Amino acid sequence: MTIYLDNAATSFPKPESVYQALDRFARQSLANPGRAGHKMALAAEHTLDDCRHRLNQFFNGKAPERFIFTMNATDALNMAIKGVLSEGDHVITSVLEHNSVSRPLRQLELDGRIRLTRVGVDAGGTIDPDAVRAAITPKTRLIALTHAGNVLGTVQPIDIIGRIAREADVLFLVDAAQTAGVIPIDVQAMHIDLLALPGHKSLMGPTGTGVLYVAPRVRPRAWREGGTGGDSSSETMPTEFPYYLEGGTPNVLGVAGLRAGIDFVEKQGLANIHRHEVDLVERLWRRLDEMPGFEVFGHRNHAQRVGTLSFRCETLPATELGGILDQAFDIAIRPGLHCAPYIHKAIGSFPDGLVRVSPGPFNTEADIDRLADALGEITSGL
Ligand code: ALA
Repeated sequence: MTIYLDNAATSFPKPESVYQALDRFARQSLANPGRAGHKMALAAEHTLDDCRHRLNQFFNGKAPERFIFTMNATDALNMAIKGVLSEGDHVITSVLEHNSVSRPLRQLELDGRIRLTRVGVDAGGTIDPDAVRAAITPKTRLIALTHAGNVLGTVQPIDIIGRIAREADVLFLVDAAQTAGVIPIDVQAMHIDLLALPGHKSLMGPTGTGVLYVAPRVRPRAWREGGTGGDSSSETMPTEFPYYLEGGTPNVLGVAGLRAGIDFVEKQGLANIHRHEVDLVERLWRRLDEMPGFEVFGHRNHAQRVGTLSFRCETLPATELGGILDQAFDIAIRPGLHCAPYIHKAIGSFPDGLVRVSPGPFNTEADIDRLADALGEITSGL
């Protein structure tokens, strides 16, 4: 059976309760929410509402209706970035960002619509809040940062940067793709105005689910306009949240799975999941320390990292090593640039990239040992 160590891309397997929720919902309640008054439509609408309530509690939002269901984190990030920026705005971002943040911002910059500052990181992959503060200008409209990068896994001082953003009256967008479900996030305490997250990673939901939290002080432009179920007579999108940002039939089946995923995470406890994943990463790190020819990137402070480890093998390019692990050992990892080219440039691993290993809640020490043995076997034969 495949040893799956690519949970930073999407979590696998999902908890049994998520599979059961998906199956049950698909067989019994898969109607179009809010589009009719019948019982099944109401049950579907209830599933969306219930999940929004859970999200609101989980992230300490201001109100459930401020949680907008999206396809994934990329969808949420695009909705936020394109929804709040206007001609002439200045935006601060970082070299850690995934292309889901970097590309929309870079395109707006190339189109001459915004000015962009990309702050760097220290050797371990941490952003200096003072560098963010120093980059703020009177034109700065948005600070868009990841909570933890998907290559080095370093958790950023989001609470400090949030305070800086609020003091300067700049909107703060956080990409929680690698932290939602594993590191606590309190949008109010952290002064987060826009929080984008996937449902399919550490929240254990299926692919096709994502969320954008929009704080009450923010009103992005609606960008996916269409039917919302109610108030069909209105010529434009209803102004009421969440409908204002949720045109079209939502992925209610996915949300039924996401709701079960959040239940799982709450029952396990974020701290336990986090500890399990960083312990597995540390186990691998120790084995890599003992083997010649491997270089691990990022810092080793467990409290400030998620369970994602990236390393280079001196004798084999990352993609080749990934291919051998897959084909010869049935071990799934992600090699390459991880859709995050700027951080690879910053740490000197561009263009070959690194091998990234990301365990999840169901991985075991034996999985890590199998991987380490495989790496030893591959490199000793070279
Ligand atoms: N963003 C995902 C990753 O880091 C897909 O692999």
